[in-house]
Amino acid sequence: MYNTLISMSYYYKSKSTYLLTLLLAGLLTLSCMTNIENIEGEEVQDVSFKLNVEPILKQYCVSCHGNVAGINLSSYDAVMSNIGTNWKENIVVPGDALNSGLYDVLLERPQFQLQQMPTGGPYLTGNEIEIIKSWINEGAKNN
Ligand code: HEC
Repeated sequence: MYNTLISMSYYYKSKSTYLLTLLLAGLLTLSCMTNIENIEGEEVQDVSFKLNVEPILKQYCVSCHGNVAGINLSSYDAVMSNIGTNWKENIVVPGDALNSGLYDVLLERPQFQLQQMPTGGPYLTGNEIEIIKSWINEGAKNN
């Protein structure tokens, strides 16, 4: 990368343009690093259903899983009582995100032969997935 930059520098007439390029390359590297952090997700704690989880479901899921039979993600009670045609049991197992369909479908490769949701994307960020995961692991409370 630095070799490329050095050879690129021959194309620039002034030193300040070169420095600007270096600065931009630095910023680009930094933003890539931030993205990687996002993909892995940061650990989140004390997640609130109302403040943190519900807005994510509203943004990504309720357009398809609204007030309908089957998977309904439009309220706490609906989320907790959902039985999927494929999943066949509650999609939230309080305290156990890894065995909860609601968490599993958010992963790039769901473990239990469901499709990644939302179908066709755009998909949740790493931090948003982490929020759902922590909320389930903290007991899936109506808080
Ligand atoms: C564009 C429409 C659409 C959006 C948005 C969407 N889904 Fe789905 N979802 C579907 C369809 C269609 C199916 C059935 C697919 C299948 O059976 O494989 C499905 C199936 C599911 C299932 C499995 C149901 C079962 O039968 O067991 C779960 C869980 C689920 N979605 C959760 C979510 C979550 C969580 C979100 C938001 C992050 C979401 N979906 C967003 C269309 C959507």
